[in-house]
Amino acid sequence: MSDAPRSVPLAGVIGHPIAHSRSPLLHGHWLRKLGIRGHYVPLDVAAADFENVVRMMPRMGFVGANVTIPHKERAFGLADVVSDRASLIGAVNTLTFRDDGRIYADNTDGYGFLANLRQNAPDWRADAGPALVLGAGGASRAVVASLIEAGAPEIVVTNRTRVRAETLREDFGARVRVLDWVQAGRAMADAALVVNTTSLGMVGKPELAVPLDGIGPGTVVTDLVYAPLETRLLRIAADQGASVVDGLGMLLHQAVPGFERWFGMRPEVDEATRAAVLL
Ligand code: ATR
Repeated sequence: MSDAPRSVPLAGVIGHPIAHSRSPLLHGHWLRKLGIRGHYVPLDVAAADFENVVRMMPRMGFVGANVTIPHKERAFGLADVVSDRASLIGAVNTLTFRDDGRIYADNTDGYGFLANLRQNAPDWRADAGPALVLGAGGASRAVVASLIEAGAPEIVVTNRTRVRAETLREDFGARVRVLDWVQAGRAMADAALVVNTTSLGMVGKPELAVPLDGIGPGTVVTDLVYAPLETRLLRIAADQGASVVDGLGMLLHQAVPGFERWFGMRPEVDEATRAAVLL
């Protein structure tokens, strides 16, 4: 056996820009809380450098990385092994550098989405009724995949660019129905779950244009936007008696599988975790 000291494991988040990322605060909190000797760092990497940087990382002591905008599709291309859920979604947010030199890619957004709902709307059941998903980008694909797997009977998708929603239906099958914004507004009254996966309602972006008056008690409403924490969608939904779940929990939960794989311990998502990233 070698007497060489074991190196301290490193992980990080790769994006461009990256300064706004809350992942270093989150993983730093878990590392401290669990007493793990390790580091998690932000890496600002331009698109042209992404592949070279990722291929160098294992030799520098990295055990894995989160991948964010604009690299989520590119990361898919350079992985040696891709999880089924990442293949279905077509994007990757978590890379693990295996001891055999291979790069394993996963997408944990759908897992984080469901874990957040289950923690904060424990009465919600995927099979309780239709889900209405606003948006048809990468985040929407992760949400739709997770809802199908969880047993949602019908998923209504609406998107500014309708063809993207149609593609989503072709990829995900018959349980997906495509509606325009106005029809979607009407469908809200029947929805058990309403999810905003667009960037609308985020600080600096326009508000959602979809009519919200159909939302009522008995509906769970969640927004992937978490800045602000209480979006207009969530405020109106709460005023109309719906159960609301903010998007910060998804950010926290999606990080759990990567952390566990890299550092060998499963972290908790609790109030202290929320506080750590809201600093
Ligand atoms: P992500 O991976 O976060 O989902 P994305 O793939 O760029 O990012 O998707 C962004 C989503 O927000 C899309 O549904 C997009 O609608 P389009 O497909 O029509 O682009 C939606 N979105 C962003 N800005 C919007 C706007 N001003 N009005 C309506 N929808 C918007």
